[in-house]
Amino acid sequence: MFAPKLLAVVSLLSGAVFAAPAPAPAAELTDADGASVLLKRGEGIHLMNCEPTNGATNYISAVVYCANDGNCNNLSYSHSSSNVCVKSTSGSSGAYHVWEGSTQSCTFSSGVTFSWAIGKEAQTWPDYTYVGTGVNGYSTFSGYKDDKHYGVTYNSHKCRSIYYYI
Ligand SMILES: *[C@@H]1O[C@H](CO)[C@@H](O)[C@H](O)[C@H]1NC(C)=O
Repeated sequence: MFAPKLLAVVSLLSGAVFAAPAPAPAAELTDADGASVLLKRGEGIHLMNCEPTNGATNYISAVVYCANDGNCNNLSYSHSSSNVCVKSTSGSSGAYHVWEGSTQSCTFSSGVTFSWAIGKEAQTWPDYTYVGTGVNGYSTFSGYKDDKHYGVTYNSHKCRSIYYYI
């Protein structure tokens, strides 16, 4: 619906005497689903289960903070350890952390604690169902059940997003 206006602006620019390259039109800033990337640039926190790659052997559950939530869905992005709070480490895949059923928290190396409380039946709910709020002492986030896509590679692990807070 923005297209006609945008085209008008672009043709105006290309008709300008000085031949400066036009900036990328805002309409290009969309993801594969056509959703606005700009709207997704807020903070995001993901509760993730991570399987080993590249010779690692342990399975970890971790809380991952992204200043830009898009980076929590980008396997190429390099996450610093200060943005990853490991909740549990296990030698077997059957022993991921149980994220549901009580008020829980994880304290990052920065000292910031993220807390959440997910109902114990939440895994039986449809993906993207609201599961309650999460707090980090600065902001209150809305939590949703995620679809378990791979969102993060971290320290020789590939992590699936189980819940996300935005
Ligand atoms: C993913 O992260 C890489 C490495 O930081 C970056 O070059 C790339 O632009 C990012 N992709 C998206 C879609 O944000």
